[in-house]
Amino acid sequence: MSIRKRWIAIIIALLLVGAISLFVASEQANAPASDGGNTEQLEADETQTTETGLDKTKYSIDEPGSLWWIVSRERPLPDGYEPSNLEVPDTQLRLAATAEQMQLRGTVATATEAMFAAAQSDGIELVFGSGYRSESLQAQFYNSYVARDGQEAADRYSAHPGTSEHQTGLAFDVTSLSGACHLEICFEDLPEGQWVQDNAHDYGFIIRYLDGKENITGYQYEPWHLRYVGEELANELHENGQTMEEFFGLTGTAD
Ligand code: DAL
Ligand code: ZN
Repeated sequence: MSIRKRWIAIIIALLLVGAISLFVASEQANAPASDGGNTEQLEADETQTTETGLDKTKYSIDEPGSLWWIVSRERPLPDGYEPSNLEVPDTQLRLAATAEQMQLRGTVATATEAMFAAAQSDGIELVFGSGYRSESLQAQFYNSYVARDGQEAADRYSAHPGTSEHQTGLAFDVTSLSGACHLEICFEDLPEGQWVQDNAHDYGFIIRYLDGKENITGYQYEPWHLRYVGEELANELHENGQTMEEFFGLTGTAD
């Protein structure tokens, strides 16, 4: 081989080595990293941490009794579910303290008391309208609404027995002292309704059935129905205007 040919062979070999090195480097950049560089990102994906640092997997959305348990028409409670630690909140009550509906899970009762006290110091009198409802009490409500408005209409605002968030002891309906706009959309325009919209999240509550999201939650707008999820999630949902279904990726499951 002449010296010229040898040089050409060396140059081609060098070019080949260069091209192979570039290819290997680009494959490594595209591959999921198992080294320090991308570990943080992988961990963030696994725990599904939001931009504000909230870990979406902190509480189960499936486990009965969990703080973030999602109950809906498509996600019924276990048969005959009863929360274990019901208490009557020390607040203004719409009914006698002995009424089944005047109860909430202990932590939720405490948060309700704190919220009502804060409202009162702002000159707003909130009233505890209806909290825990057993499957049989919900059946009484649902059947009476069906008898009054027909099933199609009732299904838009009342849960079938065994599918109501009220049965979890984590939710309640708030109302006004005068009883004006009780379970009516106009509650949102009362000072009580406005206060709840602006402040409930600070006490761990969300308005569960938001305006314009019936196709997602399965229910019409209920500015009076509050669900306890804890302050972290309540603040996040209040900030981004999402329902629990949207936040946890359950959209498209409702009728
Ligand atoms: N009004 C709500 C949807 C319930 O009946 O649980
Ligand atoms: Zn309700």
